[in-house]
Amino acid sequence: MLTVNTVLELQTAVKAWRLAGESIAFVPTMGNLHAGHLQLVNVAKTKADRAVVSIFVNPAQFGVGEDFDSYPRTEQEDQEKLEITGADILFLPPIAEIYAPDAQTTVSVTDISKLYCGASRPGHFNGVATIVCKLFNMVQPTVAVFGLKDFQQLTVIRTLVRDLNMPVQIVGVATVRETSGLAMSSRNGYLTIEEKTIAPLLYQSLITAHDAILAGNRPYPEIERQALRFLQQSGFQPDYFSVCRSSDLKKAGQEDTDLVLLAAARLGKTRLIDNICFWKGT
Ligand code: PAJ
Repeated sequence: MLTVNTVLELQTAVKAWRLAGESIAFVPTMGNLHAGHLQLVNVAKTKADRAVVSIFVNPAQFGVGEDFDSYPRTEQEDQEKLEITGADILFLPPIAEIYAPDAQTTVSVTDISKLYCGASRPGHFNGVATIVCKLFNMVQPTVAVFGLKDFQQLTVIRTLVRDLNMPVQIVGVATVRETSGLAMSSRNGYLTIEEKTIAPLLYQSLITAHDAILAGNRPYPEIERQALRFLQQSGFQPDYFSVCRSSDLKKAGQEDTDLVLLAAARLGKTRLIDNICFWKGT
């Protein structure tokens, strides 16, 4: 695996592949890689001839008072994991390589970015949309692979690619979980030993709501209220719990069939998100 720090080195390598007729799959990350990230790399390898991974802790998607400074940076271990998994290139740029000091252009997927996580983290999805757009322009991948774990992020990116006619296929990969059910996340490292025993209850609340919806006899607002109450009683400070349409993340009505349950809650100083996406049937 080749590790490169500049856009020029990256583009030199991918250009040679493209000229040789090879396709390129891209996995953008912020590092501190776990089995969820590595699953994306494994899927990327099945989708194209070459797999490019980026690690860049993107300051533009962190709000004031958020964890940009303390976000775990484990580049040495990450490189070893990517080497073993079989990535072809790791792009590991410094901030100055990505953002010109006088950069003026941002990308905004206006409506979806205001909902759910966007409401609690203003500007977050503009930061995500802008960096993903920039990275796509640098790598020019055939395919880009993202986790369903960050369902709203994936919806923002699918919308961005559609609206700007970007020539890249977006692939979503199922969430990789601990045996407890807790979705793997770089932020799980912030949890205390006690919080680690409570954290899987977030997924539990989603399963309970999923089962109640399939049982089919309760209005969605009541299911949401019950889930929020359960999370609060379990020691979380819930942010939202919403029964949504998976296509556009609008609140689902009883007639909708493609659903996603989106949840976010704070546990101590850690903000956790999770979701379940499913087909309700008619
Ligand atoms: P990061 O949180 O590092 O996640 C990188 C990718 O890994 C995302 O597509 C995310 O959905 C996926 N991922 C995280 N946990 C996962 C899990 N448990 N199972 C499967 N996939 C998982 O998301 C970002 O970085 C950034 O916002 C980024 C897109 C790189 C832009 O800066």
